[in-house]
Amino acid sequence: MTELILALDVTDKKQALKIAEACAPHLDAIKLGYPLILSSGLSIAGELEELDKPLIADFKVADIPNTNKLIAEQVFDAGFSSIICHGFIGADAIRACVDVAADYGGACFVVAEMSHPGATAFFHGGTAEKIAALAVECEADGIIAPATRPERVTILREIVGRRKILSPGVGAQGGDASTVAKLVDGIIVGRAIYEAKDPVTAITEFSAARTA
Ligand code: XMP
Repeated sequence: MTELILALDVTDKKQALKIAEACAPHLDAIKLGYPLILSSGLSIAGELEELDKPLIADFKVADIPNTNKLIAEQVFDAGFSSIICHGFIGADAIRACVDVAADYGGACFVVAEMSHPGATAFFHGGTAEKIAALAVECEADGIIAPATRPERVTILREIVGRRKILSPGVGAQGGDASTVAKLVDGIIVGRAIYEAKDPVTAITEFSAARTA
């Protein structure tokens, strides 16, 4: 079954914890990024630990290898089980994240192609394909590919084989859950759940789309 991952981009800590608690039984993982971590601190990971869900740190890490290593160590020390890094940074900088993830028994996902409209300016023309191949070469656990472009996910799948593909862009950005769920290992949904009047009802609909 394709995993369902909540992008918890809620900047009010109390509200974030409330939504996470209500949604957790219906989720496979929770993804945290700059919006919540900058407002609440990295320690929010510890506060979410009792929900017993894997936590993914979406920092889209994109620095030199040594800085990436230091960032990744902070992330895994805080209790995250996965980290997302960019792919255009090259093999040595990707490997810095992959190696730290492996040391902690965690996972590293590489952004191969982003989901927003502007992403096509740089990721298309062979770049996303090159990044996907690099992610495989660096033994990353998987890639991030856009739910907004299922045809691109199919192309990237051919490159990464059985490595995981996690896919944001479902819901608010227009990606269709049932279409992309057939192609990937995990769909990432943010606003369509946490901005819904009833996030649990919204989750149930996305959950059902995975088996449709
Ligand atoms: P929404 O509200 O659009 O949130 O459902 C999507 C979440 O996913 C993140 N995002 C991406 N992360 N590569 C990534 O690594 C991408 O191409 C990408 N597109 C969206 C976004 O920051 C939000 O947390």
